[in-house]
Amino acid sequence: MSNITTTASGSVLTIAFNRPEKMNALTRDMYADLAQALNEAAGDFAIRAVLLTSTGDHFTAGNDIRDFMEHPPTTQDSTVAAFLGAILEFPKPLIAAVKGNAVGVGTTMLLHCDVVVADPGARFSMPFASLGLVPEAGSSLLFPALVGYQRAAKIFMTGESFSAVEAKEMGLVAEISTDSHGAAMAIATQIAAQPPTAIINTKALIKASKHDAVAAVMKAEFELFSLALTSDEAMEAFMNFMAKKAADKEKDGK
Ligand code: COA
Repeated sequence: MSNITTTASGSVLTIAFNRPEKMNALTRDMYADLAQALNEAAGDFAIRAVLLTSTGDHFTAGNDIRDFMEHPPTTQDSTVAAFLGAILEFPKPLIAAVKGNAVGVGTTMLLHCDVVVADPGARFSMPFASLGLVPEAGSSLLFPALVGYQRAAKIFMTGESFSAVEAKEMGLVAEISTDSHGAAMAIATQIAAQPPTAIINTKALIKASKHDAVAAVMKAEFELFSLALTSDEAMEAFMNFMAKKAADKEKDGK
């Protein structure tokens, strides 16, 4: 079974992160599959909205840390860059259903979605600096624009997480629902029934004022991110994560 599943239901395509045993941490292959699914949906006349969701109890724990260590994405032709490009350029409505943890890119990708529905227990975080990294996915521009400079700086610099209620108050999330998947699917289905060209043009207009600036910031972020990935600060943080997981396993006798 692939770690990214796609299911079409009428004119809504559901794309799900499907690696629950690793909290849906995203690998290089998963980014490639995500980029391909989005690009195909963009070109498929039968698909009018995409629902981004997850299997298991969490949205995603962000980039797979082992993958970061073993295969740091340092070139613009990496699969993560392909995914970020695909999400930035995706022309159709992108609806997300978030439950559990949404870490790193799990939160920053939401800045590109059109409607996000969160479970009341969802937790959001962007601990890039804590890992020796820098914000990505255009978040260094989009997040301060959404919540204000100081609030964004505090969240980026402390690595602290925030709740679904806070995310809604920020405008990162449109709705909170105990059935986040069902509520997000209902919104996707409602939008998919609208006149498709009007919807695509509406999205393009809403996004137009920031599109080029976000693309430029993403490039700059990527350069700094690539350098940071191989830095001592990042290596130490990654090793600490791996060591903690190994110690947890030993303690549990696994
Ligand atoms: N990369 C690789 N594996 C990850 C992962 C990640 N980003 N996040 C979680 N996992 C794995 C864990 O190693 C564990 O697998 P294992 O049992 O085989 O060791 C499994 O997913 C469950 O995670 P665990 O850490 O045991 O759950 P928890 O409830 O104790 O902690 C988090 C949850 C999200 C706080 C913790 O997993 C975490 O900090 N993950 C890293 C998040 C991160 O920094 N992402 C990168 C952002 S750029």
